[in-house]
Parts: sequence; structure tokens; C-alpha cells
Amino acid sequence: MTRTAYGLLMALLTLNSVIAAGLEDLKPITDWEPCAAGVWRGTIGDMKEEVRYTDLAAQSPRLEALQALPSAKFPFAAGTIRFLQTDRQEIMVRIPTDADEKLYGFGLQYDGLRKSGKILNLNVDHWAKGGGRTHAPVPFYLSSAGYGIFFNTARFLKVYAQIGNRKDSPHNPLPVDRNPMPDEKQPGRWQARPAGDAVEARIQGRGMEVLVFSGSSLLEIVQRYNLYCGGGALPPLWGLGFWHRVPARFSADQTRAEIEEFARRNFPLDVIGLEPGWMTKSYPCTFEWNRRRFPDPSGFTRELLDKGVRLNLWENPYISPAARLYKPMYALSGSHMVWLGLVPDYTLPAARKLLTEQHAQDHIAIGISGYKIDEVDGYDFWLWPDHATFPSGTSGETMRQTYGLLMQRMLYQDLFQKRNVRTYGLVRASNGAASGYPFAIYSDSYSHAQYITGLSAASLCGILWAPETRSARNGREWLNRIQTSCFSPLAMLNAWASAKKPWSYPEVTDAVRKSVELRLRLLPYLYTAFADYAFKGVPPMRAMILESGGASADQGTAIRGRLDGEANPYAQARTVERNDQFMFGPSIMVAPFYEKYATERQVQLPAGDWYDFYTGRHVGGRQKNITISAAQTGDRMPLFVKRGAVIPLLARTISNTDQAYGCELELRLYGSTKGSYELYEDDGKSFDYMKGNYSLRKIEVRKTQSGEFTYTEERIPSDGPSMFGKIKTLKVMGAQ
Ligand code: GAL
Repeated sequence: MTRTAYGLLMALLTLNSVIAAGLEDLKPITDWEPCAAGVWRGTIGDMKEEVRYTDLAAQSPRLEALQALPSAKFPFAAGTIRFLQTDRQEIMVRIPTDADEKLYGFGLQYDGLRKSGKILNLNVDHWAKGGGRTHAPVPFYLSSAGYGIFFNTARFLKVYAQIGNRKDSPHNPLPVDRNPMPDEKQPGRWQARPAGDAVEARIQGRGMEVLVFSGSSLLEIVQRYNLYCGGGALPPLWGLGFWHRVPARFSADQTRAEIEEFARRNFPLDVIGLEPGWMTKSYPCTFEWNRRRFPDPSGFTRELLDKGVRLNLWENPYISPAARLYKPMYALSGSHMVWLGLVPDYTLPAARKLLTEQHAQDHIAIGISGYKIDEVDGYDFWLWPDHATFPSGTSGETMRQTYGLLMQRMLYQDLFQKRNVRTYGLVRASNGAASGYPFAIYSDSYSHAQYITGLSAASLCGILWAPETRSARNGREWLNRIQTSCFSPLAMLNAWASAKKPWSYPEVTDAVRKSVELRLRLLPYLYTAFADYAFKGVPPMRAMILESGGASADQGTAIRGRLDGEANPYAQARTVERNDQFMFGPSIMVAPFYEKYATERQVQLPAGDWYDFYTGRHVGGRQKNITISAAQTGDRMPLFVKRGAVIPLLARTISNTDQAYGCELELRLYGSTKGSYELYEDDGKSFDYMKGNYSLRKIEVRKTQSGEFTYTEERIPSDGPSMFGKIKTLKVMGAQ
């Protein structure tokens, strides 16, 4: 948005607030308190007994990084944001919107990014059919008018996003007769849903905290949100390798044989995930090794670590009567059970201590690398009812909204951070202020199109999404799904039920292997993208609306509503969104093949010049649509690179991330005579980077007068830690 447009909008909002003074029953939030550069806090009612999501964040706000962003003003005129608090403990907040304002976000919503004209129930739940309930219903949204709003209170939130009209609102559209006489002029087309001019969001609770984030672009607003929540997660380097989860009832011997098969077939592997059968009992769980399947857990873990393979353990939090922890945890758990197991109240330090001591002794001490925390989302019939009680006094509702966060916090802080060892894992529910947690969300839903949308949706709200591969109807689908996984935060095959292996579809095995190998070759670039998430709040994979041109480039396809007494009785129009492209790191755009676009698809090129990643061919720009086929890419993921990008790759193929340390680099420059890049390096495994123990390799590539390409490189600080090897080759891609 240009400065003038922004100014105009602000003027409109001011006007809005003056007229909105007519909204008599609503009080303005007046005490907007600046809490970091570009972030303001407004409080309604009494927050003493409410839980803020930010109370559960991994780290405190990164104030310096927030300060380093361009300065920003409070984006609303005084009195614009208003609220209603009733004696029934209802709190409603109203944020006016402009007619053209587009809204995005509200968490990991797989049905699209646009949220204008929607009603959302933001409750943690297993993904069903939209409606807001999802694995991570983050109550944060972005507006094309240059701000973001975070409802920072752990309650079920119902949001009316530009839907519904107050009788005293100044911006209501004029009513239109739906069935006019032929000679009657109408002010417009009748609409089943007249445009609303506000976001109205409601909770049942004593208090509500609203955070406002400002920004000159959607990306800057997201950065502010992430930085305020403590910055993004930085996984250990091994976490970015390939993960394979074995069938639920696999033994040590079967797992060992599978790992040998990976080596024999020359397939990269970094992490093996054990599913529920590693425990003596699951659903509910004991967290204790099943010695009949795993007679020597310590020896087994060590043997794998010697091969560079880490073990990740599945668990759900519900404690079996057969567990050592059952008795001591009984009094520290809620009134209701899940799968007949106790639901510990992990807001209590004593409960945290019990679990983490057991985990430390049985798992961490022998070298377990992390966890997959299952079943913390829903559906309602699996989890505790809303009226369940917990010993800390936390309500069943707040517990539901935060259980995934509480688990992440406990495992991350009490098991790993405390030992100065990084972890990377999975969790099936998360919520606000989670950006600092190194856990990716996964789902039992399995639509490939929705999995791709998830990558964009996650990038708007500080979470990581793992579009895992489980099975496929044919080799092509298998390849396409694995390729998507390889360009996501966590590349994983989850064979817990399918018993599939990466080579289960022989006709695509080579292409599948190449796709995993490419992910590993891109490690220097990918790891730096995660460092940008940690330090600057820039998500490593990003929705296209976060790129320059962002929301204005997001047009969608409008489908006019046609009256049909059965199929569309209100003749409702709709807009079809395109969310099947996303950014991977700063300069690679990914356009996966999927579903009916299994081998051929359209790609919309954003503004600027774009190049084929593999060949360097100039493919176009300026929002041109091109068609790309699997025949053209040689069955590889369609990847497009921005003009002037410098991309560091490992110079050779590796099969485990341990081999990346010291590995020489290939540097690529795309379509330009110059470019620069800052390669981030640290030890790849500890939290020392948080104390400043990292280095940046500042690389400049340019064309000399004699027409040759050359580069310079400087490490800052010069004695900082090093990770990758020397630059071996410089490749100039595309005509200059
Ligand atoms: C599911 C989970 C799967 C797998 C399975 C094991 O709920 O989504 O990934 O772990 O449990 O029982």
C-alpha cells in the first residue's frame, strides 16, 4: 500500500471513529499501551484470572529486533476499537473495517487464507470442515489496511469477520429489493450477505487482551507478531533432514531392518519416528519402553545415533493406570479422563516435574531427540468436556485452547533448553504465541490441496505445518506428495498405518530420492531461512500475499451466484482463492503438482523476473501465467527463482545432515550481474546461538569488467562458529 493510500485509509478510519461514536452501548478501548516498537496492548475487564497466550510463549519478546523494523504508528484513530462487556461475562470487541479491506489468517485454516465474510469458531479441534475449528485456531489476523490484531486470551473465540450489520453502524450498504418490479431502479445487486464493516469477536470470560501490530506490509506485521511472541523456532540441523515414522507395532529388529534398507537403497535418513507400540501401553499411555519390542532401548538408541539417525517418540499425554506416573499424577489431573487415562494439569509445576523427570530418565538420558505429541486437539468426543475441572482452577475451555502449548512448553523448556540441546518434533495442536516452539503441526486429514494451503496459512500466524506423506493411490500421487513434504518445515513419511517406504512405488523411486536429496542440498539456504525466522520473525515458508505486491496481487476468481432453488437458493457469489504456490526461503517460489494438476499446472508469476531453478531459463514475470509440466521439469518439483537471488547449496549430495558439516558449497546467482547473501552458521545443535554464538558469511557476487563472475566473502565475526565448508563453485544461472 502506498503512503497516500495508507494516509487516506487512516483518515477514513478517523472519520469512522467519529461517526462510530454513535455506537452508544460500546465503550472505546482508551488505554492503548505501547508494549514494544509497533505493538500496542488494550485490556478489557480483569485479566487476573485469564490466561494470555503470550504467557505460554517459548521466549520473551525480541524487543531489539522489533525496534530494528521500520518505525510504525498506532494504526487506528482514538476510540476506533470498541467493546461490550455484559454481566453474563461476555466480552465482545469491535474493530471497524473499510469496504475494500481484506482480512487474512485466524490460524491453520486449510480452506483458504481470506477471512472476509466468514464466521469462525476458533476452538482447538481436529480439522473437520472449516468453520474455524482447527489444530491451531490462532486468534490473530492481518488486514490489508496495514495492521494485525491478536486476541491474546485463551478462550473459545467466535469471530464475525465483516459479517453482520449493526443498525447504528455508519457504513452499512443500502438495502436492495430482492424482487423488484421491472421498472424499479436498484442501488446495486441484492446480496444474500450484505457487506459488514467490522470484525466483531466474542468470548465468555472476565477479561480480554487485544494486541495491535502495525506494519507497512503484511510481512512486516507477521514479523512483529512472531518477534513479539519471542521470535521463530530454530530447529537443530538434523531436524531439517528426512524423517520416517515406522508402523505402530514395529519392534527394534524391524526398525533396524528398515534403517538398513534405507542405507542399502541409498535413501537419505535423519530421524526415525516410533509410533505408539514402543510403550508398554498406549491410548492411554505409560511412556515406558515395551521391553518385548525394545529389549535394550539405550543400546538401540546409541546404535542408531552412531549411524547419524535420531529417534523421535510418539506419545499422547493421557496416563494409563499401568504407568508409574499414574498414582502420583492422580491428584494433579483433571476431573475427566481421555481414553480412560488421566489428563495431567501441566499448569502445575509439580505435574511438570513428575513427567519431565520420568522422560529425562527413560528417554533423554539415553539420547532420544524429541517427541510427537498426539491427540491434544479433539474432536470433542475424545477430549474432556468444557465443564471439566482441573486442580489449578484452569477452566476446561482454557485447558483445551492451551494443552498443545503447555506440552510444547514443558518438553521444550524443561527437557531440552535446560540441557542446552535443541529439539525438533511434532504436535497436533497449538495456538497463539507459539512461534518459538520447534514443533510442526500435522493432521489426520489428507487432502493434498489443503496440505499445500496449510503451508501458506501457517506462515500467517507463527506456526510450522508438516504436510506429511502417508500413502497414495499411485506412484504419481506419491511423488507429488513427497515433493510437497520436502519443501515444508518438516519432511516426513508417516507410515504408522500404511507401512509404506519411500521406495514403495518403484516407478518413481529415483524421482523421490532426488527430491529428498535436493532438500538436503538446500540445507545451507533452508537453515538460514529458519535463522531469519528466529531472529527477524520472517517465516521460512511463506504465503504469496506476504511477498511484495501482497494483498493487492491477491485477486482470486469471482464466481457469480446463479439462483438455483435447490443448489443455491440465495444466489450466493463466491471467490475461489489460489493458494497452491508458496515461497520457500527468501527467493524460491514453489508450485507443487497435486490432485488434478498431477503432471501439469498453471503457475502465476509474481511481479519481477523469474527463472527456472534447475536450468536458469528465464520464465517471465509481471503476473504472467505459465503452464509447467512434469515432462518439462523431469519429474522434479517446479521451482522458480527471483532475479538477482543468490542461493547456496551443498556442492554434493549427502544422505544424512551430519555430512553437511564442513561440506563444500555451490553458489548460484540467478539472472543478474550481481547479488548478495548472508549465510547463517552456528553449531547446529545447542542454544548457544541465543547468546550470540553464531556467524554470518556475507557473500557478494558480481560481474567484473572483463565479463567474468566473481565473489567475495566475509565471516562476521571472523572467529565465529563455522558449519558448512568453503565455496567450491559459482554457477551463473540464466542470461545476464
Ligand atoms: C494418530 C496420528 C497418527 C498416528 C496414530 C497412531 O492420531 O495422527 O499420525 O500417530 O495416531 O495411533
